[in-house]
Amino acid sequence: MNQSQVDTSKPVAVIGAGLVGAGWAIAFARAGLTVRVYDATAQVASDAIPWAGEQLTALHRHGLIAEPPEDVKARLVIAHSLEQALDGAAYAQESVLERAEIKRKLMTDIDAVADADIIIGSSSSGIQASMFANDLRISPRVLIAHPVNPPYLVPVVELVPSTQTSQKTIQFTDTFMQGLGQSVVHVRKEIEGFVLNRLQAALLREAWALQRDGIATCEDIDKTVRDGLGWRWSFMGPFETIDLNAPGGVADYANRFGPLYHSIARSRAADGHWDAELIESVERDRRQYLNAADLGKRREWRDERLMEFAVQRSKSADR
Ligand SMILES: NC(=O)c1ccc[n+]([C@@H]2O[C@H](COP(=O)([O-])OP(=O)(O)OC[C@H]3O[C@@H](n4cnc5c(N)ncnc54)[C@H](O)[C@@H]3O)[C@@H](O)[C@H]2O)c1
Repeated sequence: MNQSQVDTSKPVAVIGAGLVGAGWAIAFARAGLTVRVYDATAQVASDAIPWAGEQLTALHRHGLIAEPPEDVKARLVIAHSLEQALDGAAYAQESVLERAEIKRKLMTDIDAVADADIIIGSSSSGIQASMFANDLRISPRVLIAHPVNPPYLVPVVELVPSTQTSQKTIQFTDTFMQGLGQSVVHVRKEIEGFVLNRLQAALLREAWALQRDGIATCEDIDKTVRDGLGWRWSFMGPFETIDLNAPGGVADYANRFGPLYHSIARSRAADGHWDAELIESVERDRRQYLNAADLGKRREWRDERLMEFAVQRSKSADR
């Protein structure tokens, strides 16, 4: 995995240490940064440290970190207040709940105590920064830095400025994230769901509709991605995929298959609402393959697979 070139002279802060915040803490500490970990629920912050320790041990076992895991873990420090977390920090990663009013209240609190030069990235999955970070002292220094879970294993991060984010903030965060080893995507205009979740939404919309209409089971739909589309998607995106899938490249592909895709798109013009009956049916379908009690174990299995995959990716010369 591409590792770190960041300025470690100042600490960084993780605000909200749930699933995503704790993951960011690992990505930051792995790069040599001291990380102040703060959560409104103190227990969440203290639980995040031993959990991170276990992940670091696994990363070390896979050869994804060279440093002894306990040395990396030692850079994770619990902060007992927002002010303590932000004091002297160069960067703060906000990872609180996905609700505009909660993020707005936090931004107002940060505005009251933060140093004049701190940069703040928000992990928001789809709410635009202009909806919660504008018209404050800190506004030019806030942007979306949306990761994929877990951010220390999946490198992409979407940077999405608000209408008030400065160019300097975008530039700083781009350099900082690349220094961590993340893969930076610039979203040029604010849009709900940004790029990643809009792409995911398109696929999920079709997946739920296919299950609802009895075309295929959840397992066969998963298999289609797992053993089909996903093979290429792990190293190339949809545009490169189609560029290679017609003799004359992407324009040839569009001429050959455009009518098919337009026809499919027209057949899904109605909103595919996930109502209670459909959710129950998908839940029943999935539980045949995975008991609810085993979800945690399966997440651990996923993270192990991701680590094996990261090892393979780090060996390939081109990406
Ligand atoms: N779960 C994912 O796959 C994923 C992926 C990318 C981005 N995100 C985004 O990351 C953010 C966090 O999601 P999560 O899945 O980690 O949620 P989570 O529920 O696991 O964690 C959120 C944490 O924020 C804390 N919190 C709430 N208000 C706070 C405040 N004012 N100050 C400090 N801490 C506060 C809560 O106590 C909780 O521990 C959301 O915006 C989410 O959309 C999630």
